[in-house]
Parts: sequence; C-alpha cells; structure tokens
Amino acid sequence: MLIFGIILISVELTLGKLVVIGPQELKQELDQRSGDIKYTIANFGNIPWGRRLSGTLEIADPLDACTEINQTVKSHFVLIKRGDCSFVKKVRHAQNAGYQLAIVENNKDEINGTVTMFDDGTGYGLQIPSIFISKSDGELLTKYLRMPKTNFETEQIQLLIKFDVRQRDNVTTLFALNITSEETYKFLREYQPYYQKLKDEKVSYIILYPLYQIIKTPDKPIEYQNCISYGKYCARDPDGSGIATGRMVVEEALRQLCIFQQGFDKWLAYMISFRDNCTSAQQYESCSPGIQEEVGINYQKVEKCIRDQSESHSFLIKNETNYYKHHNLLENQLTLWNTAGVQYLPGIIINQQDYQGQVTGANVFLDICYSFLIPPASCANYIDGQIQQQDSSSNLYLTIGIIIFVMIIFFMLLFCVYTRLIQKEFKESSKAQVNEMVTQYIQFYESKDKKSKEAI
Ligand SMILES: *[C@@H]1O[C@H](CO)[C@@H](O)[C@H](O)[C@H]1NC(C)=O
Ligand SMILES: *[C@@H]1O[C@H](CO)[C@@H](O)[C@H](O)[C@H]1NC(C)=O
Ligand SMILES: *[C@@H]1O[C@H](CO)[C@@H](O)[C@H](O)[C@H]1NC(C)=O
Ligand SMILES: *[C@@H]1O[C@H](CO)[C@@H](O)[C@H](O)[C@H]1NC(C)=O
Ligand SMILES: *[C@@H]1O[C@H](CO)[C@@H](O)[C@H](O)[C@H]1NC(C)=O
Ligand SMILES: *[C@@H]1O[C@H](CO)[C@@H](O)[C@H](O)[C@H]1NC(C)=O
Repeated sequence: MLIFGIILISVELTLGKLVVIGPQELKQELDQRSGDIKYTIANFGNIPWGRRLSGTLEIADPLDACTEINQTVKSHFVLIKRGDCSFVKKVRHAQNAGYQLAIVENNKDEINGTVTMFDDGTGYGLQIPSIFISKSDGELLTKYLRMPKTNFETEQIQLLIKFDVRQRDNVTTLFALNITSEETYKFLREYQPYYQKLKDEKVSYIILYPLYQIIKTPDKPIEYQNCISYGKYCARDPDGSGIATGRMVVEEALRQLCIFQQGFDKWLAYMISFRDNCTSAQQYESCSPGIQEEVGINYQKVEKCIRDQSESHSFLIKNETNYYKHHNLLENQLTLWNTAGVQYLPGIIINQQDYQGQVTGANVFLDICYSFLIPPASCANYIDGQIQQQDSSSNLYLTIGIIIFVMIIFFMLLFCVYTRLIQKEFKESSKAQVNEMVTQYIQFYESKDKKSKEAI
C-alpha cells in the first residue's frame, strides 16, 4: 500500500495563563485545583503584543452573545459561552458593547494547544483580542460572578492577561506563506511599507512554504503530479481537478527560495508583482522570468541556484531504478515546516514565538517593534501612537496624577490665601503699630506739650 503522508507538523501552541488578581477566594480555589486558567488566542482581532490588559469580568447577556450584548455593569472583560453562532460574531458583539477582551468558554472541560478559535471569514478588522478557555474554568468564573456580593468592589473578578513577546537585540521573523493563496499576497502588500521602515534595523527574515513528502511503499505506483523528485517534495494541488498541479507550486517555491537568496527586498518586490501577473499555477513557469527582470533580479543566478541545489540520487521500485534530485533548499523547508509549528497560513513566527491574532502588516510590524529589547527609532512613533491605554494600572496612574495635581492646586490656593492673610495681618499689625507709634508720638508730644505746658 502507498501511504500519502503529510508529515505531521508540531501544532502544540504555547498556552497562555490568565492571572487572577482577585477575589482572594477565587485565587485560593484555583490554587487547590490546577492553579491556572489556561487559554489559547483566537486567530482574529488585534492582539496587543508586548502589552498587558487588566480589568474586571462580567457574564455576557445573552450568555452566548449571539445577539448584541446588553452591558449591565461597566466591566472590561466579558465571559461568553461557546455555541450557536461563530466566534467572530460573539467577539464582534463584545466589541460593540465596549469590552476590551472577550473570553469564550469552550464546551469541553479541557483546553489544549491544538484547539483555538478560528475566523469564519468575517473577522477582518475586528479590534479586540479574544481568548478561549476550558468549560471547567469558565464554570468556576461563572460561579464567582453569580455569587451574591456584599462588597461589589472587592468581590469583583479582576484579571490580568499578559501578551508577552520574546524580546531580543535583533528580531528573527519567519513568514510561512501559501503561494496559491490571495491572503499571502494581501499580507505582503500590507507589510511592504513597514518593511521599508525597518530596513536598517536588525530584523532578519526567513520564509517558509508548506511542502510535504510522499512516503514510498514499493507496491503501488506513486502519483507524482503534485511532486518533484519522485515524491520527495510535494505541494497541495491548487485547483483540484483543474490542470494546475502541486508540482508547479513546488517548482515556483524553489524559484522563490532562490530569489530570496538575492535579498528580502528583491523577493518582496517579486512577490507583489507575481500576484498581479501570475494568477494561476500553470502560468508560473512562463511568467516568472518577466517579473524577475522587471524587479531587477538576476535570472541567470536564479537558474543557477535551482540547478546547484540538486544532487542526484537513485532508488528502486519494482526492480526499476528511479533517479531523483535532492534539493538542499527544499530539504531545509521540509525540516523547518516540521519543526516551526505553524498553525495557519500566512503564519508569522517572531523570535521563535507564534504570532496569533489577525495577520496584518501593521500588527506584524508592531509585534516586531515590541520584540526588540530596545525598540529602534523607526518604531518609536508607532509604539507611542498605538499603545492602547487599556491597562487599568495606567488608569490608576492617571488617577494618582489627577489627585496629585488637585492637591498641588489646593496647596497653592491655600498658600495664596495664607500669604494674603499674613499680609493683611501684617498690614493690620503694622497699621496698629503705626497707629500705636502715632499715638505714642502724639502722646509724647501731648505729654511734651503737657510738660512744656507744665514747663511753661
Ligand atoms: C438590558 O438590561 C436591563 C437591565 O437588566 C433591562 O432592563 C433591559 O430590558 C435589557 N435590554 C435588553 C435589550 O435585553
Ligand atoms: C485537544 O483537544 C481536542 C478536542 O478537545 C482533542 O481532540 C485532542 O485530542 C486534544 N489534544 C491533546 C494533545 O490533548
Ligand atoms: C542577533 O543577536 C544574537 C544574540 O543577541 C547574536 O548572537 C547574533 O549574532 C545576532 N545576529 C545578528 C544578525 O545581528
Ligand atoms: C493554499 O491556498 C489555497 C487557496 O486558498 C488552498 O486551496 C490550499 O489548501 C492552501 N494550502 C495550504 C497548504 O494551506
Ligand atoms: C505585471 O502587471 C503590472 C500591472 O498589472 C504591469 O504593469 C506589469 O508590466 C506586469 N509585468 C509583467 C512582467 O508582465
Ligand atoms: C524483480 O523482482 C522480483 C522480486 O521482487 C524478482 O523475482 C525478479 O527476478 C526481479 N526481476 C529482475 C529483472 O530483476
């Protein structure tokens, strides 16, 4: 039997952990259980990478948020039950109601890295982040949210979520791309202006195309139309029963990898022009040279790269010797694909950490900026401009600031009043003194007068 095997990719996501700030009883109950509320992040919404959100939680009304949410208490986060409508719809309702984070409770007790909320195709442009937690954790939160409260302030659930990134001196960015998908080019077009901004910074790029290998078994002919090198490097058929094949995609992937060796900027220019001019896989081979020329790529060098990458090998099937070529570039791609843990395409991995949320040029740029230990100058405006003051600790600082300001004003006023009083008192006392002196003077003269009178 022949097994057409798509080599399993490691899909384990790093699970995030929600931090419970209060109430104390909930923290204790969590500690007695597993300790953490684990979550996965949806692949839509703008994730505020590098930043943190904290806030209070409430239950959605209606519970499933399939219609507009009726916000009762003014909280930052909202807990929503899974089911009856798409995740995107729920999160959009949460956003419309003014929440900063939607927490969706799964209908299964467990949550693991292989399950996350997916875009139904309408999630583009959603602003707020959303996370997915297990049913058991959701029920625990619900229990506390429903408890009658004697002191609303202290018994409210207060959560903290950290969208931490790995920070380095230089940032490694991996783009996993699907040659035949419009979304890949949409992202690249969006990213191009940001690439220009980061051009002189320490950002290195890796590109990755999803390839798979056919595992050979000796007694069935292999259908090689989606592969090169007798099943060693294959790509998904881009049009099903149409005339385009996976092989055309693999060949184009190899070409693009060779172009990439001439520099990311040339590759990016090629990719953008490629989408405009080569719409179907059967055109790739014939339209690629023209585009290479247009964007200033050395075609000969690319062809040489394609040839140089290969080494001939042979293998036997049914007493028949077959020859195939081993391509270093493609071999590396296979290995990378199997280890990188890309979840969906286009997929972004920055400093070895999976980027989640909506893949847009601006979002990826911001994530790269936050992934620097010290963000470079070209990031500065954007980081400042885009920071969302959602963290309630910043509200706290604001409050403290206002209090200090008010106190300063108060003391200044007090000081003014005080100094005026003093002045007045001084004036009065000096007036009194003058008066006294005058009186004394008069008295003196009077007495003098008297004396003189007496003397006279
Ligand atoms: C929203 O909630 C308030 C208070 O609970 C209620 O009076 C009102 O009818 C609700 N509105 C909708 C549309 O459910
Ligand atoms: C993760 O959860 C899904 C569905 O709940 C399940 O099918 C899958 O086997 C789980 N994976 C692991 C590694 O536990
Ligand atoms: C990136 O940083 C690491 C350690 O901080 C260093 O070893 C590496 O050489 C740097 N790479 C580049 C391209 O600057
Ligand atoms: C690439 O995109 C095409 C078109 O959207 C799709 O049919 C194909 O399954 C995608 N390939 C992979 C590996 O996701
Ligand atoms: C690619 O398309 C653009 C616009 O559609 C056109 O200006 C350009 O000449 C085309 N390039 C090639 C090589 O066909
Ligand atoms: C082909 O292989 C079969 C067994 O797999 C063997 O019996 C036969 O002799 C082989 N023929 C040749 C020409 O090598």
